[in-house]
Amino acid sequence: MEKIVINGGTPLKGCIEVSGMKNAALPILMGCLLTEDKCVIENLPEIDDVTLSLKILKTMGLSVRMLNRNTVEIDSTHAVGGSAPIDLVRKMRASYYLLGAELGRFGRAYVGYPGGCDFGVRPIDQHIKGFEALGAEVNVEGGYVEVLAGDGLRGNNIFFDVITVGGTMNVMLAAVKANGTTIIENAAREPHIVDLANFLNTCGAKISGAGTDTIKIKGVEKLHGCSYAIIPDMIEAGTYMLAAAATKGSLKIKNVIPKHLESITAKLAEMGVEVIDDDESVTVTYRGTLNRINVKTMPYPGFPTDMQPQMGVLLCLAEGVSLLSEGVYDNRFRYVEELKRMGAIVKVDGRTAVIEGVSKLSPAQIKAMDLRAGAAMVIAGLASKGVTEVEDIHHIERGYDDIVGKLRMVGADIKKVSFPDEESAFVKAN
Ligand code: EPU
Repeated sequence: MEKIVINGGTPLKGCIEVSGMKNAALPILMGCLLTEDKCVIENLPEIDDVTLSLKILKTMGLSVRMLNRNTVEIDSTHAVGGSAPIDLVRKMRASYYLLGAELGRFGRAYVGYPGGCDFGVRPIDQHIKGFEALGAEVNVEGGYVEVLAGDGLRGNNIFFDVITVGGTMNVMLAAVKANGTTIIENAAREPHIVDLANFLNTCGAKISGAGTDTIKIKGVEKLHGCSYAIIPDMIEAGTYMLAAAATKGSLKIKNVIPKHLESITAKLAEMGVEVIDDDESVTVTYRGTLNRINVKTMPYPGFPTDMQPQMGVLLCLAEGVSLLSEGVYDNRFRYVEELKRMGAIVKVDGRTAVIEGVSKLSPAQIKAMDLRAGAAMVIAGLASKGVTEVEDIHHIERGYDDIVGKLRMVGADIKKVSFPDEESAFVKAN
């Protein structure tokens, strides 16, 4: 087992470079299946979910070759549908993109039910509704999802009942090679939706409207390979923006698209933190007491749910009482119990956390409850004077490219250490 040990209390200072976006990379990697050709994907983040996706694709018969640390060549000519091993598929939510990609390529899909972070119930009913609208039959049985389009897929109009990122991308993947035109209404508008559409269009697809709530997909017969670079990760960037503010530091965060960060920038400004945008960077500087604010997470362009735990930590350090409401998931406050070990004063009532600011957080042995909660614990550790240990860091490594190395470069006293199971603070406590 490994943990992150942080000797906190030092303001972060300097320059940090953001990697490619996890939630764009995963559907794009799965989307390579649709081309029956070679694709070169650049700006891939070096994270466990990417490693796992590539492993799944390899076991399905695709040829996968790393050209350098961040560039992969994938040849999907000899892919075998329905062959993704369930033990790998269940480790990651994004494996549901295999459903759309296999369906688009083979007219059928057979994939284990996806896993992922635990935020309460995470159904895929809207994905299924979309596949059915395209003429497929869907069965969920024995831990697998089977989708069959015996007579081929036909374009159709789909109106999502909830705004779903995964559902929007999955229907796009399935529909690019369907007969006729598909229109998705009430579509998600996240930058990674646009990135997937741009990748597929570079391969010859005809998708318009990505980034708005109505996406039009004119089916084409064939897709071809391409070279494509993934956009920067707005959540990784946002995490470092909040880390700068929480440690009373100043960070220039490079390789970002400032437009994608507007909701985060606006909330930091409201708290009294200075944020200066440049073409491809933002510089975040702590300028004194943090004001209390209210934040509600929403689909893009609202404040992202994937920044909610990190914002929870920052609000603990603000003056006064803040309200943090979760507008996307039923249960994304499991990390609050960990923060309370550090002296945070937080009451969770349903989907809202009432956070009373404290003058400081105290170091403790804490646990990463999931990916973003783990990043939030790292911020809490960086902001607290003394030694904080974060366990269960496999969650963090699913989605943050070299978080320890990047933070060390900007002055953090942070390291990753291995330890035997029996030394875990949580095993000891029980
Ligand atoms: N929902 C349904 N039915 C569906 C699909 C979704 O009711 O068929 C509900 C969900 O339960 C949730 C809401 O709709 O309450 C939004 O879910 P969405 O489908 O948008 O989320 P997702 O596709 O499962 C992706 C990211 C998450 C991120 C969300 C929201 C990936 C692999 N995951 O999940 O990322 O929180 O969109 O932006 O792209 C993370 O990176 O830490 C992460 C959890």
